[in-house]
Amino acid sequence: MSSASLIDPFGRAITYIRVSVTDRCDFRCVYCMSEDMTFLPKGDLLSLEELDRLCSAFVRLGTRKIRVTGGEPLVRRGIMTLFRSLSRHIGAGALDELTVTTNGSQLAKYAGELRDCGVERVNVSLDTLDPFKFKEITRWGDFSTVMKGLDAADRVGLKVKINAVALKGVNDSEAYEMVAWAHGRGFDMTFIEVMPLGETGQERFDQYLPLTELRTTLSRRLTLESSLYATGGPARYFDVKETGGRLGFITPLTHNFCESCNRVRVTCTGTLYMCLGQEDAADLRTPLRRSESDGPLNEAIRAAVARKPKGHDFLIERTGAQGSPGRHMSVTGG
Ligand SMILES: C[S@@+](CC[C@H](N)C(=O)[O-])C[C@H]1O[C@@H](n2cnc3c(N)ncnc32)[C@H](O)[C@@H]1O
Ligand code: SF4
Repeated sequence: MSSASLIDPFGRAITYIRVSVTDRCDFRCVYCMSEDMTFLPKGDLLSLEELDRLCSAFVRLGTRKIRVTGGEPLVRRGIMTLFRSLSRHIGAGALDELTVTTNGSQLAKYAGELRDCGVERVNVSLDTLDPFKFKEITRWGDFSTVMKGLDAADRVGLKVKINAVALKGVNDSEAYEMVAWAHGRGFDMTFIEVMPLGETGQERFDQYLPLTELRTTLSRRLTLESSLYATGGPARYFDVKETGGRLGFITPLTHNFCESCNRVRVTCTGTLYMCLGQEDAADLRTPLRRSESDGPLNEAIRAAVARKPKGHDFLIERTGAQGSPGRHMSVTGG
């Protein structure tokens, strides 16, 4: 590791940032937001230039991967300016990967430009293949628009990973069909356990489906062979013999994966969260704006990483959810 590296108190090198560029979204997924979400005043947001400066400071401190997320990142006005400017770090060899997590609603419009900006892979969140269920889950989303987005991603050669949150009694019955569909289209597929993040007007226990259960169900029809594939992320991967595709499980509740955590998250207001599941945060907007030099910003980032906690304490039980920060996933950035 170079002296520029960010190492946390547990010896983990922080080489990956997720940047939430907006807390706004054109969907209202039932596990993520309430329908009448209050969003941040636009004036509180970092400008695209400030986001670029912030990300670039992280790159100089050893970040090798940036995931742009939200909210829905592709609804932020002018967002391609940010992708375009960040792509210079890929060209310079300072960044290995620039990527995005999206609900797919704007992919038909932006797939080509993303590819031109050096984005090679995109994560698209899709929890069901049933258009009616899709409407129920996303409240405001349109299934066919997302399908057109996926077609566009395919056409321009973006590799796609489908992320589905496992929802008890909602999409568990179609898990096999989803895997067969995704792999049939050449997409990777990952299931995620619902996490207790922010109030959504729904009971978490009613939504929560332990992935151990889903895996057992899938194993009745598919042969899951433990895969050596790893992205440095929390997913555990399996090769599916019947489809030839890759299947991941992200299990923050049933299996805590924090020991290998390599990431931090920055919100659209420049707040740095060292852990998705903890409250502690550092304000980066003030040092960013205080000086034209990156010195104070670098200092603030280093000081924050030096107190990165060991891990989250999520727990969902019949009696309620614990270890839950009040903020939504759309604020911290999924
Ligand atoms: C917050 S979204 C932001 C990016 C984009 N809007 C999207 O949906 O892909 C990122 C990911 O977080 C997931 N997510 C949101 N709330 C969650 C929760 N409470 N538990 C688990 N995953 C959640 C979403 O399904 C999505 O895959
Ligand atoms: S999961 Fe993504 S698409 Fe759904 S409401 Fe949250 S931010 Fe929007």
